[in-house]
Amino acid sequence: MSRPPILLTRKLPPDVEARATRDYEAELNSGDCLYTREELLARAANKEALLATVTDRIDAKLIAALPQSIRVIATFSVGYDHIDVAAAAARNIIVTNTPDVLTDATAEIAMLLMLGAARGAAAGAATIREGRWKNWAPTGMLGREISGKRLGILGLGRIGQATARRARAFGMTIHYHNRKRLASDAEEGAIFHEDVASLFRSSDILSIHCASTPETRRIVNAETLALLPPGAVVVNTARGDIVDDDALIAALASGRVAAAGLDVFNNEPNLHPGYLGLPNAFLLPHLGSATLETRNAMGFRALDNLDDFFTGRPPRDRVTP
Ligand code: DGY
Repeated sequence: MSRPPILLTRKLPPDVEARATRDYEAELNSGDCLYTREELLARAANKEALLATVTDRIDAKLIAALPQSIRVIATFSVGYDHIDVAAAAARNIIVTNTPDVLTDATAEIAMLLMLGAARGAAAGAATIREGRWKNWAPTGMLGREISGKRLGILGLGRIGQATARRARAFGMTIHYHNRKRLASDAEEGAIFHEDVASLFRSSDILSIHCASTPETRRIVNAETLALLPPGAVVVNTARGDIVDDDALIAALASGRVAAAGLDVFNNEPNLHPGYLGLPNAFLLPHLGSATLETRNAMGFRALDNLDDFFTGRPPRDRVTP
């Protein structure tokens, strides 16, 4: 295989960059700068592929301005809502993603958020760090157990299913909503809800795992949050724009929603400041896939897709039609 010229828009783990430079004429981003649109377009000149990430907003305008030489965009992520796939397809640019390899890491973070939110981990940790912990108190800092509770999963795909498997070990009953009901072996006993309202009514803990699409954006809003049982917990490891921040912040402030565990936000990293003052919000900075083994696997999977493309095989994770 010749070494096609490609642009890595962000710094990637050393083993991934080593493979990229071995097999491609790869321009790295060793300083890990966040390129402006103009910088990205300038660096894309004469490249045949972009190895991009969720921090690149590859909208229709950017795609229209990309050099003709770009034939494929491999995103280092499972989500591809940051790319206008239809605009890419219209320009005959193939888009690929990295499913599967971050499933376990993200499901672990969902469990961490569930436990952290339900047990008041953020407030408890702050009590220690700020020197406010006076003594053990029989009635102090009481959280909620997740054991035996109903876990409502919005989007029982790969990550939702991996979260469900972990939650079963806590004795949780799994409920879910998907556009289409899964085959019974994939359900593994999970209870299907044909409509979102019914799922919310049955969720002591709601964990969001659906993709961000026009149908799911702001699906967690004042109206749907009001359907949750009082004192429910909301967890989001999917995308920030699935949640209406004002509505969730109001529900957390009133205690109607007891706690939230959030790893993703609207307008990252400039999340709604309303979350910051809430002791019942357990917040993480988009750590779902943040382990070295997973980030390596994501990079290798993105390169596998580029290898497929440049050796004339159909890329296994093609998302463009
Ligand atoms: C993804 O891959 O879509 C994640 O959000 C990045 O961890």
